[in-house]
Amino acid sequence: MSQVQFEDAVIDLNEGESVLDGLLRSGIDMAFGCKSGVCQSCLVEVTEGVPPAAAQKGLNDAQTALGYMLSCQCRPEQAIRVKRIDASTQMVSSEVLDKQWLNENVLRLRVRSELNYRAGQYITLWRNETLARSYSLASHPESDDFLEFHIKVIPDGQLSPWLANEVMAGNRLSLQGPMGQCFYTATSPDQPLLMAAIGTGLAPIYGILKDALSQGHYGPIDVVLGARESNGFYLLDELADLAHQHSNLTIHVVSQADLPEDQDNIQSVQADLYDYCNELWPSLKGYRVFLCGADSFVKKLRKQSFLAGADMGDISADVFIPAGG
Ligand code: FES
Repeated sequence: MSQVQFEDAVIDLNEGESVLDGLLRSGIDMAFGCKSGVCQSCLVEVTEGVPPAAAQKGLNDAQTALGYMLSCQCRPEQAIRVKRIDASTQMVSSEVLDKQWLNENVLRLRVRSELNYRAGQYITLWRNETLARSYSLASHPESDDFLEFHIKVIPDGQLSPWLANEVMAGNRLSLQGPMGQCFYTATSPDQPLLMAAIGTGLAPIYGILKDALSQGHYGPIDVVLGARESNGFYLLDELADLAHQHSNLTIHVVSQADLPEDQDNIQSVQADLYDYCNELWPSLKGYRVFLCGADSFVKKLRKQSFLAGADMGDISADVFIPAGG
């Protein structure tokens, strides 16, 4: 059993329990979001003891040098002392510009901010000092003068309904980040690219796609979008326009149920998405693959892509961890 010390409290951690869960169990009010090492909302500073490597995975050099760690990923083998960090030092402010529904459940949120990022990365958005959620960026830093997010609104969630119903243009929001390694690099502009997403996985794919096209990628690009039903798709007009402008881009819309109305420059197919990918790309040797969406989708298609010959180093993923909206 190991111990965590926090302010005046000394807490014995249960077997396999994280520092965050131990602190929460003891009634200490801690900030957290995903509990999966993604959103960085649970950062604390280690003042005594050595954090396990897993607790600093994904942090930048400055955060590591400051002794920060992710309390949700820390299961220490020895006693450790931590303290709260001033979360505001990790945040940048933004101003809400615009909200628009993209389909029944997905809200487009645009904000103005000085935050530097790469297309395809994600940020953590804070509602208050203890409540945060991560969202991927759909905007492209060189061509958009705003940050764009596609928010799946979960009716009984804590943050997404607040964004949908209470946050207005002109309000200020605190952002933290950017984070994530799922972005385009212009090292092989002739390489075939396969980009696949379900749901709001389109957000990072949209940013990555705009980045690849703006950097002059001329190899074939296939974007495969999956949804349970036709009303789960969005931004199809914008994607059709891009396909119209770029002859190397093909957009595939795949669902086992009903499909959106036919439109030029979009290939709509009634099929199982995994079977469809298997059929169209029996070999992915030499491809760069981007996968964005729910954990189960990314895991399955990552394995399938690898088995089809894609190099693991050429598969980038943005995995959405459910955090309750
Ligand atoms: S990274 Fe710890 S709660 Fe998200």
